[in-house]
Amino acid sequence: MSPLEQIKPQVRAMKPYTLTPHEVAHKMNQNENPLGFPEALKDEVLARMRQQDWARYPDFHSAELTEALARHIGLSPSQVIVGNGSNELIYSTLAVTVGPGDAVVIPVPTFSVYKLIATVLGATVHEVLMQAEDNFALPTEQVLALAQAERARIVVLCSPNNPTAQSYSLAEIRRLCAESGALILLDEAYQEFSAQNLRGLLDEFPNVVLLRTFSKAMAMGGLRAGYALTSEVLAQEIRKGQLPYALNSFTATAAVVALENMALFEEQIALIRAERERLFAGLVALSFAQPVPSDANFILIRFEGHTPQAIFDHLLARGILVRDVSASPGLAGYLRLTVGAPHENDALLAALGELAQGP
Ligand SMILES: Cc1ncc(COP(=O)(O)O)c(C=O)c1O
Repeated sequence: MSPLEQIKPQVRAMKPYTLTPHEVAHKMNQNENPLGFPEALKDEVLARMRQQDWARYPDFHSAELTEALARHIGLSPSQVIVGNGSNELIYSTLAVTVGPGDAVVIPVPTFSVYKLIATVLGATVHEVLMQAEDNFALPTEQVLALAQAERARIVVLCSPNNPTAQSYSLAEIRRLCAESGALILLDEAYQEFSAQNLRGLLDEFPNVVLLRTFSKAMAMGGLRAGYALTSEVLAQEIRKGQLPYALNSFTATAAVVALENMALFEEQIALIRAERERLFAGLVALSFAQPVPSDANFILIRFEGHTPQAIFDHLLARGILVRDVSASPGLAGYLRLTVGAPHENDALLAALGELAQGP
């Protein structure tokens, strides 16, 4: 008997979540902060780490970071769960809610990790397609009908959504919170770049789990820190699904230093938002590119007369790495690119401009 037979069939049938690495000058494929973690703050993190005893386990729930986050957001520490990136909190939330046969409803295209984890856990994933013609708006009626008919345990809403960069209407999100009967997993990984903030929903609805991360705006993708905000009772349950000591001392220290210095990140965020508008205008000016308005730090673009692969290769040859999302549901013809530093956005617009002039 092959040992592979012991692996769940739905896992064997799945494609892994992976990304081909490329060494490039301009990395615009993972929605990271191109300005980086400020050097002075790196020094501060290293200094604090030198004071710590690395032999000792971190405290169980990273109390210092949890309390700092609670103050920052205006919640009780009992409502804050910190984890090893928001991916880990997606995992622990789903681990304590769904098992074989349970329904999860996900509007797509969206971040693929929700489906991946739900599937590994044996849940049945119901996807609802959002349409380009509707600017990828939330198909609320369909989501609601499915959630109710399937008695879904979870509805996942990512706002601003990756990869469409659109924020959903607050009224529609509120309706799903009130009427779906499900727990609403709200992923706000890109909140800092957005005009919207869903934090207020926590005061209104007991069935909301809000996910945020230090990976994007706070330039800490490599360190893996995320957090979930929810009611005290749900937080207690979700913590049971986490691995002990999910967050290491180094990352927790860096996250505390980041929170103490939010003003520096606010400056970076303002610059990235301004660059987003400049990049968007530059893309609109290209006859063959149709960018989707963005409320995040990345832009989804439909290209005409060039395949996504051709654009990807053209940019890669010039040291610019973007994300080909054309295999995602409803996104044939689309690429996604992260707003870069000013010189990177210049390089990108120049490279695309070459295509406008023809071969
Ligand atoms: C929507 C969304 N949620 C969560 C994540 C994962 O972030 P983290 O680094 O916090 O695990 C990403 C990363 O790309 C994302 O795009």
